[in-house]
Amino acid sequence: MRTTIIAGNWKMNTTVSEAMALVKAMRNKLEAINGVEKVLCPPFVSLTAVRELILNSSLKLGAQNMHFEEKGAYTGEVSPLMLAGLCQYVVLGHSERRQYFGESDEIVNKKVQAALKVGLKPIICVGEKLEEREKGLMEEVITRQVKGALASVPSLERVVVAYEPIWAIGTGRAATGEQANDTISIIRHEMGRLYGAAQADMVPIQYGGSVTGANVAEFLCQKEIDGALVGGASLKADEFIAIVEQTAAVKGKK
Ligand code: 13P
Repeated sequence: MRTTIIAGNWKMNTTVSEAMALVKAMRNKLEAINGVEKVLCPPFVSLTAVRELILNSSLKLGAQNMHFEEKGAYTGEVSPLMLAGLCQYVVLGHSERRQYFGESDEIVNKKVQAALKVGLKPIICVGEKLEEREKGLMEEVITRQVKGALASVPSLERVVVAYEPIWAIGTGRAATGEQANDTISIIRHEMGRLYGAAQADMVPIQYGGSVTGANVAEFLCQKEIDGALVGGASLKADEFIAIVEQTAAVKGKK
């Protein structure tokens, strides 16, 4: 039995007061939904405020990125040690980090190792570009990213993966449930090759890319899909609640 995880990646949105208002608008309803791990990933500056608001609830907190060094002269960066006391999860290798901030598979790998070392659960993002899918390179790209992110990682314990096809992010053009399930099977197969099927079978793998309350069930009813990493829709309280409610309903039938 794998954990079902719905995480809201707020990206570079919300001021601290907006973040607090958003949490207050969702907190009680999310808390009432059982069987789903609910993770909020606000911007760094709101982590403390959001943490206070969800302190005695089952809601979990995640960061959207971090540096791989524990401390030092890296002006403007946030370290694994700083996050370890604040949150449980950290999103790593998001395609926006890879695209706009030059994060390579090697950098993502250093971050994954650093996160695991301090007890954080990394949500490792992988995903292909549209042109890569069209050229038949999806499998090659995905397996390279999975293998790269996990290099020298001793076990898959605490690892979470999010499959986010780049063409589906923020476009309103989600993958189909079947497409996502097929690619996630490839990811699980690659992890099985590296760590054995028993470990690979325990890793929660999320789908991300234009997930809404209206389409989340299509993903969650698939055998290999264990949750969603939600961008835009996680900024609307009612929509995020609907996503978690739908997930709980589908999971109950699975
Ligand atoms: P959207 O849900 O806005 O497409 O974003 C997906 C995403 O990138 C989550 O990390």
